[in-house]
Amino acid sequence: MILTFTSPFEREPGIVAWLLKQSYAELVASDPKHWELELENWEQSDHSVFENPRTVGACTFLSWANTDLVGLFCFDPRPKPAYGVIGHNCILPQFRGQGFGKQQILEILRRFRETGIRQAKVSTNDHPFFVPARRMYTTCGFREVKRVPWDCDPKQNMIHYEMEIGPRQQKMNGNSTQKVRHEK
Ligand SMILES: CC(C)(COP(=O)(O)OP(=O)(O)OC[C@H]1O[C@@H](n2cnc3c(N)ncnc32)[C@H](O)[C@@H]1OP(=O)(O)O)[C@@H](O)C(=O)NCCC(=O)NCCS
Repeated sequence: MILTFTSPFEREPGIVAWLLKQSYAELVASDPKHWELELENWEQSDHSVFENPRTVGACTFLSWANTDLVGLFCFDPRPKPAYGVIGHNCILPQFRGQGFGKQQILEILRRFRETGIRQAKVSTNDHPFFVPARRMYTTCGFREVKRVPWDCDPKQNMIHYEMEIGPRQQKMNGNSTQKVRHEK
């Protein structure tokens, strides 16, 4: 199924934090000591979206499979044209494993390419919870460039990925027919 993407402003403030909390609930439950600290960051992300509709809010999208809200993604294009950074991206647990996470990443890459951004960067963590995320990034064409201990727990590592965005990737990923509705 092909996802559609909408602005978050069709929904009430709180929707971004809710999606993030649902998507990371299993991780927080498995390691509350380190990951409960993120709850505040997710609330903050929600405030940023709704307080900055022309900047943060304009780079945040809800993803829909027909009428089901399945996930969200955001990105930061400010370092353009050198690179853009993929931010939060998640799919609600009950909708995983159907290619939706990958569609979201391909949609961000399409937007980067359209605005002339030459490279995409994204980071994740080496906790086992993020195995699907790591797989998703490599299958989309990202290569790992660096692992560094995570500030909140040096036993866990942050993994940084990069990907060149050029005509060759355009052909490989070629997903330019993605539907977008009600963009503001
Ligand atoms: C990461 C996430 C967005 C993936 O969403 P998804 O819709 O389930 O992913 P997809 O179905 O598009 O699968 C993407 C790739 O990951 C692989 N994958 C998915 N679930 C997997 C799993 N449990 N174990 C191993 N690989 C998995 C798929 O096989 C696919 O690779 P392929 O095309 O080579 O077969 C989702 O698991 C999620 O929301 N996780 C929690 C939040 C998160 O980690 N976000 C990323 C932040 S860094």
